Amino acid sequence: MTGSKLRVAVTRKLPDATEREIAALFDARFNHSDTAMDAAALIGAVRDADVLVPTVTDRITADVIAAAGPQLKLIANFGVGFNHIDVAAAARRNIAVTNTPGVLTDATADIAMTLMLMVTRRALEGAKVIEAGRFSGWCPTWMMGVGLRGRNLGIVGMGRIGEAVARRSRGFGMTIHYNNRTRVTAAVERELDATYWPELDAMLPAMDVVSINCPYNTSTYHLFSAERLARLKPTAFLINTARGEIVDEAALAEALSSARLAGAGLDVFEHEPQVHPKLPGLPNAVLLPHLGSSTIEARTGMGRKVIANIRAFIAGEALPDRVG
Ligand code: 8YV
Repeated sequence: MTGSKLRVAVTRKLPDATEREIAALFDARFNHSDTAMDAAALIGAVRDADVLVPTVTDRITADVIAAAGPQLKLIANFGVGFNHIDVAAAARRNIAVTNTPGVLTDATADIAMTLMLMVTRRALEGAKVIEAGRFSGWCPTWMMGVGLRGRNLGIVGMGRIGEAVARRSRGFGMTIHYNNRTRVTAAVERELDATYWPELDAMLPAMDVVSINCPYNTSTYHLFSAERLARLKPTAFLINTARGEIVDEAALAEALSSARLAGAGLDVFEHEPQVHPKLPGLPNAVLLPHLGSSTIEARTGMGRKVIANIRAFIAGEALPDRVG
C-alpha cells in the first residue's frame, strides 16, 4: 500500500486547505453534497475505503463497521469527541481510531466564555430588543444581569478545554472549582488557584456557574439528570460545550422555564440537530448551533491532525492521536 494509492473516504466537506492536501496525498473520495451521511451511505463508503474520515454527524455503529471491507484499517475522526464511533466494534475488527485533540481547545473555550457572558449579561435578550425595534432608551433598573467577578465557577471535566475555560475565567475574576475523575497536577491547581471536588454532588450546590467540559460516554450520559440539576442554586447558570447527551434536556428546559435555574448557555443538544421544543424562546437560554470548533484556525488544525494520523498510519508509525 503506498500513500498515493490509499483510498480515503471523507464524509463531509472539510476546509479547502484540508481537502486540497488530502486530494494531493491520497486517492480521496469527497462528499460534494456535504449532507450528513445515513447508514446506507456510510456502509457504501467503508466498503472499499482504506481510511474513513468521519465527523460528529456520522453514526459509525457496529453495523457500519461490520459492513466495512477488510481493507479498512483506520477511522481518522475530524473532531475531538468520538462518542459517535463504536470504538470497541472497530477494535474487534482491528481498525484503529484517531481524533484531533488540542487544536480546538481555544475555540471551544472561547465559545464557553461567549455563552457564559451572553447568558449572565442577558446579551441575547438585549439584542432581540434592538432587532424588534423596541429599544426606548437607557433605564437604571432595566435588563440587569449578574457580574462574573467573585463568582464560583465549577468545571466538570478538567481536561484541556476545562483548563482553558478556567484560565479565561480567572481573567474575569472568577474562583475556580473542578470535578474530575483524577486531580490535575499540583502546578496546574496552583496556577488556577483551583479547588478539587472529588464528588460532583458536593460541588454543585456551591457553584454560581457550571461549565460542562467532560467527554460523553456511557458513564456521563445524563450526568446532569433532573436530580442533579436540582442541586444547583436557583441563581446558577449552566454552560454546555461538550455533548448534549450529558444533560437531560427535558429536565433542563423544565428547570429553566420554572426559574429553578437562572440560565443556561448551550452549544450542544441531546438530539442534535433537534433542540428540545421548550428551549428556544426562553429568555434565560442562550442556544448556539454547535459552534465550539468553528474557527478557521481550529478547523484547519483539525484537518492537519487528520492528515498527520493518516500519514503516520502509512509510515507504520505510532498514531499520534490514537483513541482506539
Ligand atoms: C467538531 C466537536 O466540530 O470536536 C468535537 O468533538 O464537538 C466539534 O466542535 C465536531 O466534532 C466535528 O466532527
